[in-house]
Amino acid sequence: MAAQWEPWQTFQCMRMVESLMKQPERYVYWFDRYATLVSLKEIYGKIVDTPEDEEYHTMAISDRMHNIERLGTPGGYLVEIIPALLKLTAWMAPFRREAQELRNIELAYFTKLIGEAKQRWNSKVPESPDSFARCWLKHDNGWELELPDITYVLATLYGGGSGTTSNAMQTFVMTMALYPEWQTKLQEELDSIVGLDRLPSFADLPQLILVRAVAKEILRWRPVVPGSKTITYFSRFGMVANFSDLPHRLTIDDEYNGYHMPKGSFVHGNQWAIHRDGGLYPDGKTFNPNRYLEESWPTYKEPIEIHPNIKRFSAFGFGRRICPGLETADRSLIIQIATLAWTCNISKKLGPDGQVVLIDDMDYAEGSNVIPKPFQFELKPRSENCARMISEAVNAPY
Ligand code: HEM
Repeated sequence: MAAQWEPWQTFQCMRMVESLMKQPERYVYWFDRYATLVSLKEIYGKIVDTPEDEEYHTMAISDRMHNIERLGTPGGYLVEIIPALLKLTAWMAPFRREAQELRNIELAYFTKLIGEAKQRWNSKVPESPDSFARCWLKHDNGWELELPDITYVLATLYGGGSGTTSNAMQTFVMTMALYPEWQTKLQEELDSIVGLDRLPSFADLPQLILVRAVAKEILRWRPVVPGSKTITYFSRFGMVANFSDLPHRLTIDDEYNGYHMPKGSFVHGNQWAIHRDGGLYPDGKTFNPNRYLEESWPTYKEPIEIHPNIKRFSAFGFGRRICPGLETADRSLIIQIATLAWTCNISKKLGPDGQVVLIDDMDYAEGSNVIPKPFQFELKPRSENCARMISEAVNAPY
């Protein structure tokens, strides 16, 4: 199912790389735009055709998600530890007014998107492949989801896919600037498998084992949803609460390592800690894709044409709530990493004083989804041929 979106992902990836080569300093926007345009077509069947509209939607979903990340980060509001505050009326409870205002904004945006999808369906605008919205419309509500339900089901997919992939790609760029030896190895792999006369494609993936290992290691080393932020409230009675991100709730009593957890308990998957578990990831602080490629590491797995991959990887969560966008994310990361490394050289930047501008690899913004704070780097096409081939791919009829 996810494979049917590969041509659209490839096309948007070429556009992302072309834009990045022209204006590397706008890297956050180009990665965000990629994720937004892939999602809009996949989820709503919407193709945005002006740069202004692209920017409008990219900023709109990014704003919505930043709000959700801020509000959804456990421990952000006192009401979470004093639920009695919920009884206050709106004029006494600013958190209620804020939630209502933000809900109105997001509902208006997502309702419009689904309304447009309905209009296209009624006007018989063809879609290939069918978007999620079109599938719902075609089933004539066979999914038993009413409009408010489907609006939020689709919005969750749109939102879930927008910042996450972009965040991981921002870390990828940072990593290439910090660890040039891995960029060289990536380029050696790409040159030997893909060659210099064509762009990488999804068909190459079984052989691009280092590209897949780098994607996985990026998500291990700097998980997008680390779940390790700890917020502690102090009061005159001492510490009263301590949270970390993305909670799950037990539906039955459970036992773990001698701890009894009653039904209803909140459990937080702490990816930051899991990804640094010494038994599975020795030397976990170090970015090292070899841990998936050499038999001596506990995470090595055969067959190498399939592993490393990021299916069922803890970076995508756990159990029934595991990320449903995993297949799309997998493809997006791998095609972007392969194409960027094939086309460009990324390095640290020299400042006006001729000194290298340092990058702090721990300087991430807080929130449930972590994003590297803006950093400076140099990005140049590897050759004129690479730049020309990207432009041709962007201008070829899609
Ligand atoms: C690198 C990219 C991505 C990462 C690292 C990521 C990670 C995650 C994580 C950790 C969760 C929480 C799972 C849990 O609670 O155990 C999640 C949930 C979710 N993700 Fe992703 N995700 C990515 C891309 C995507 C994409 C592309 C989509 C949509 C196409 C998507 C849609 C969702 C949705 C809808 C949920 C909520 C699932 C639920 O609560 O049942 N994600 N994701």
